[in-house]
Amino acid sequence: KRIAIFASGSGSNAQKIMEHFKYSSLAEVALVLSNNPEAYVLQRADNFEVPSHVFDRHAFYDTDEVVDILKRLDIDLVVLAGFLWLVPENLLKAFPNKIINIHPALLPKFGGKGMYGDRVHKAVLEAGEEEHGITIHFVNERFDEGEVIHQAKFKVEPEDTLEIIKFKGQQLEHQYFPKVIENLLRKYN
Ligand code: GRF
Repeated sequence: KRIAIFASGSGSNAQKIMEHFKYSSLAEVALVLSNNPEAYVLQRADNFEVPSHVFDRHAFYDTDEVVDILKRLDIDLVVLAGFLWLVPENLLKAFPNKIINIHPALLPKFGGKGMYGDRVHKAVLEAGEEEHGITIHFVNERFDEGEVIHQAKFKVEPEDTLEIIKFKGQQLEHQYFPKVIENLLRKYN
């Protein structure tokens, strides 16, 4: 099976996924894609000798460039790992139920447009939430609304800072994302 990862930034989740499948007989990461030519994830892809592709807004929203590349590479699963742009309809249609995302909160709480990165954790602390966590879900035409595949949570302690809850969430993301991807791929023939 062949995985494509979309990421806009650091790519620590992409790194964990590339590590997980490096010696796998089930699947490989065939391509890393980014809208951001400066994204550190591109360096990480290089380190794993995974090819990468950078696209701009016009190519993504007004052409089939990205879909064509994914099709040409026979991609089975599209993984969004810190990818900040809404997925256009041509891509959704080309990969029905084959696009997943990770979100650093317990959806449906703390999701939607503009809810990413530190803003999520800040909102969680401001709301006085007693638990927080991560969600891995299918992607549809709206931000953070597709069917949930897996959630993992932790307790927010009264003394927890933004950095602490962010770190706890990242640990869960790194722990579960590769495994959830593997479980999904095992169901494909
Ligand atoms: C993760 O927290 C993910 O949930 C969110 O963006 C962050 C990406 O982190 N969608 P990284 O680039 O994988 O380090």
